[in-house]
Amino acid sequence: MSGQQSRADQSTFAELGLRARLFAQGALAYLFAKGGDSFARLLHSPWRDDPYPIYAAMRARGPLIRSKLGLLICTTHELCEEVLRDRRFGVLRSDGSYGDPTAAAVDLQLSLLELDPPDHTRIRRLAAPELRPRRMEKYRQRIEDIANELLDEAIARGSFDLVRDYASLLPIRVICDLLGLSQVDADRLGHHGLVVSGSLDGVRSTKQLRQMRESLNELDAMFARLIEQRRADPGDDVVSNLVTALDDDKITSTELVQLCNLLLVAGFETTVSMVGNGANALLNHPEQWDLLRADPSLAPAVVEEALRWDPPVQMTGRIAHEPLELAGRRLRKDTPVLVLLASAGRDPAKHEDPDRFDITREVQGEHLAFSSGSHYCLGAPLARIEGEVAFRCLATRVPDLRRAGPAVRRPTSVVRGLASFPAFPGKTAQRA
Ligand code: HEM
Repeated sequence: MSGQQSRADQSTFAELGLRARLFAQGALAYLFAKGGDSFARLLHSPWRDDPYPIYAAMRARGPLIRSKLGLLICTTHELCEEVLRDRRFGVLRSDGSYGDPTAAAVDLQLSLLELDPPDHTRIRRLAAPELRPRRMEKYRQRIEDIANELLDEAIARGSFDLVRDYASLLPIRVICDLLGLSQVDADRLGHHGLVVSGSLDGVRSTKQLRQMRESLNELDAMFARLIEQRRADPGDDVVSNLVTALDDDKITSTELVQLCNLLLVAGFETTVSMVGNGANALLNHPEQWDLLRADPSLAPAVVEEALRWDPPVQMTGRIAHEPLELAGRRLRKDTPVLVLLASAGRDPAKHEDPDRFDITREVQGEHLAFSSGSHYCLGAPLARIEGEVAFRCLATRVPDLRRAGPAVRRPTSVVRGLASFPAFPGKTAQRA
């Protein structure tokens, strides 16, 4: 048997094994979902379409509950925040493998998200200054221009898909600018971003696995080329600045490629979902849409309320790095814990009348949509500017915005967002 044949056989066996495992996991979780297990229901349609009653039922069982699938789950704002801030928790198991209970069947190698100290601290220190609020402000005008351009096109056509033609194109163009990629790369980058972020939910089929590997390989090659180009011809972008750290041996080229992948995956679908979920909430609550139209300076409040009420990242995970006690339970070292960020946003102990979508709330921004502690979202300042501009432009340019058909949800649970949102810009749409 030739070496090549044996590799092919091995990979066929590996694919078959994986296929059987994915099928068994999926079938088991579906059976538990049908049997009423709350966590399994979060992963399956039709229950996951509206997870908020499920979160309420979970919170009623206590701050830390165990699902029938054996997973420990934090349900309240207080306990979710406690775990995220507790240095005795991390993201890697003691054998070094990535331990997020929501993760895909394969390692996505998403840089900071899959690192613990000291590597996490080292790379976060290099990346943080590149994304700090003052630096991000310089993108505001560019974001306004992109939003206006996209709405010009929508107005000229008379109908558009608010997710595909607006919410999706805005962040991908901004990420291209941020990384110093040409706008002609935006479509390919958007495709790969969608494939990889879809896998954050876990891989459910071998076809999805294949697509994900293809996308990761193409992204690795694209970013490796970009790093070489920036080394030879630096510009005013994140990659050019980080190449200096590469030359100073503070980061390896593999780590830098993984960081670029993370900026794409973490910054794309999340922002799309914030704008899509927020616009959906506004049109479902016409009195709130009227408030924004009458006073577009409420746009930052829409961002915070949309992030609390229907956040793009619904959950994350942590691993206990040592034996410890949490909410009265003893946890062994390496125990995974699921942290329900979206349930925290609807916790009545933290937010008054939490199920009410209200952009005039007195207390804003006290949500966990950007997580907390050492993995707090580095892109939060940029995401906030993008959201603020996106909602303000909708209110000022297309104040008569209305639906042209039902919105369609993406079939995912960790990142919650819309795949499609058909809309009419309306009669009083303003051309720039
Ligand atoms: C509304 C949009 C966004 C949301 C809701 C969001 C949410 C999150 C959450 C929940 C985490 C932490 C996950 C955990 O604790 O396990 C995170 C991490 C991160 N996000 Fe965002 N994000 C958004 C936009 C962005 C953007 C625009 C960028 C950059 C372009 C970005 C870059 C990052 C990075 C680099 C991390 C890793 C931080 C670390 O692990 O130390 N995010 N984000």
